[in-house]
Amino acid sequence: MTSCCLLALNASGGVTSPNGLLEATLDISNIGRPVYSVNYKGKPVILPSGLGFELRGDSDLLNGFEIVASDTTDFHEVWQPVWGENTNIDNTYRELSVSYRQKDTGRQMNIRMRVYDDGVGFRYEFPQQNNLVYFVINEEKTEFAMPSDMTAWWIPGDYGTQEYEYTECKLSEISKLYPDTLELNSNQQDFSRTGVQTSLQLKSDDGLYVNIHEAALVDYPCLHLNLNEENLTFTSWLTPDAEGAKGRMQAPCHTPWRTVMVSDDARQILASNLILNLNEPCKIEDTSWIHPVKYMGIWWEMIGHDKPWAYTFDLPSVQLGKTDYTSVKPNGVHPANTANAKRYIDFAAEHGFDQLLIEGWNIGWEDWMGHRKDYVFDFMTPYPDFDLEEVNEYARSKGIKIMMHHETSSSIRNYERHMEAAYNLMNRLGNDAVKSGYVGNIIPVGEHHFGQWMVNHYLYCVTEAAKHKIMVNAHEAVHPTGLCRTWPNLVANESARGTEYESFKGNSTSHTCILPFTRLQGGPMDYTPGIFEMDMSKCSDNKHHFVNTTICRQLALYLTMYSPLQMAADLPEVYEQFPDAFEFIKEVPVDWQHSIYLEAEPARYITVARKDKASEAWYVGSISANDRKSKFSLDFLEPGKKYEATIYADAEDAAIVTNPQAYKITKKKVNSKSQLELNSVAGGGYAISIKPLN
Ligand code: NOJ
Ligand code: CA
Repeated sequence: MTSCCLLALNASGGVTSPNGLLEATLDISNIGRPVYSVNYKGKPVILPSGLGFELRGDSDLLNGFEIVASDTTDFHEVWQPVWGENTNIDNTYRELSVSYRQKDTGRQMNIRMRVYDDGVGFRYEFPQQNNLVYFVINEEKTEFAMPSDMTAWWIPGDYGTQEYEYTECKLSEISKLYPDTLELNSNQQDFSRTGVQTSLQLKSDDGLYVNIHEAALVDYPCLHLNLNEENLTFTSWLTPDAEGAKGRMQAPCHTPWRTVMVSDDARQILASNLILNLNEPCKIEDTSWIHPVKYMGIWWEMIGHDKPWAYTFDLPSVQLGKTDYTSVKPNGVHPANTANAKRYIDFAAEHGFDQLLIEGWNIGWEDWMGHRKDYVFDFMTPYPDFDLEEVNEYARSKGIKIMMHHETSSSIRNYERHMEAAYNLMNRLGNDAVKSGYVGNIIPVGEHHFGQWMVNHYLYCVTEAAKHKIMVNAHEAVHPTGLCRTWPNLVANESARGTEYESFKGNSTSHTCILPFTRLQGGPMDYTPGIFEMDMSKCSDNKHHFVNTTICRQLALYLTMYSPLQMAADLPEVYEQFPDAFEFIKEVPVDWQHSIYLEAEPARYITVARKDKASEAWYVGSISANDRKSKFSLDFLEPGKKYEATIYADAEDAAIVTNPQAYKITKKKVNSKSQLELNSVAGGGYAISIKPLN
């Protein structure tokens, strides 16, 4: 269903969403600046806001434009993701494309805007032309003028990390609450105290939910937003390269999509497919090798229990190819050894997992960060106590694949130098998933994690991996922007504060209640749930705090934090203490036919029901920051069919810190007419499996 017509813009140059509730305009101001606005149900969402660029060494692309043409198109398709929350995704929008010409310079800049029922995406396009070929962006000047002093859930602007807690406050309070800890990080010195990252979740006093992010970030720096508190207007703030430039462009080219999601129902923000839809269709022809993965890991032993990735404590420095590991004394506590790997493989195989991640298997960890080393890891050579061949052979014999670990320590040339050989090694060993990581400052010096050069690197890893039929889970990479539609072997990213912080200093009880609104808009997160031992003093003598959660909250996270790649992060011996709760982690699917968000409020609570892709079973997960009773109908079940629900809920006396491991498991016959009322304690939750009886 595609129709196209050339039209003269009406006074406002507006286009409405397919259901008519959302209206967006593209226009021009009296000084010839391209301007847009967004309204929902007649109320302003984005007030008239300026568009354009400041260029380096050239006149700006901001003012003096005229509109030379415009055209509208309707589009509708239903597409099937390789994995996801739903088997079918509806992609229906009305598009307005406006061609602007700068009168003095003759330079042409087009803006394409897609208006969906649940939001808007627009991007700048630079067609082939003689007057604009190579150009360097000094700053993108896309504005988002907010209509009121909305509540915002934000993390501070940063060129190198998103691993922050969210702050909730009015827009006008952001600068007052800006964390002072920022000075500790060298990567955001350019930001004023109002710079925030996207996806940014907002809510107006009259109940409108607005979310600002970007889609299809390719060959361009990552978007941040800087707020002018006087007029409540955000302006785009891109990540600079080593010379301070913010985008090196060659026409024909275009920017990523700038997105504004809107709804008066918070559940719709979670259900939206706007970001995925704005990405290009899958570019991998044969996707049969891409599959969901449930995995365990030799990981929490290091992160939670403070054991070393390194093999020896006796080497102050390592030089690849020169250091002789066979002559040094092993530290004797290095978890990535052959015997321990086999123990995990046995456990993972017995309990039906697909893969086992092993970190610290390869030489170099004695000296891996802090020195800006170029040649740091080779991603090939195992430590003397880790028999790579034997471990992989043993895993194969038990039906487990080893998930490869490539910590790059942000030495990019070193990783690209070894990548082909490292992927070939994985192919030879039969490994089809890699967890990569980018800890530390980027080498080459001066580049940032979220700059254009690194954005290109992350995608290069994914496209090269696709040639080797390898799935990628990159940590510390740029925020996801839906590229997993185009490259579904990008099965997950970290790009937010994950479970590892429960070990460092803890996450708030609201953290996982905001992440699906923000971080997860761009794609799945490797949050690594499944921690059952909350008392960190039992994990390490150096730790005296608790994981802020109950066991049932950990179960619910497998539903509320959608990802086709899910870890059971705790130790086998911990799961052995709670076999009935562990049962839920073992059985919960990670790929879905259909998902329905039942209850949601940013940073407060989320309840979601999902239907297994491979069966008629449903699963429900709910998390809450505060004590809460949730109440919902099971009317999503097939009418007339009988089901048995197994409910894993916080016990009445459960409480984070003092009694986090108290839960009760009950069974109940249910059907599509049933109502459920369930309690979550603060920081708790519940998980339910609902299986057909006939
Ligand atoms: C940080 C990652 O988030 C974590 O999962 C990993 O274990 C370490 N880097 C080491 O690579
Ligand atoms: Ca991390």
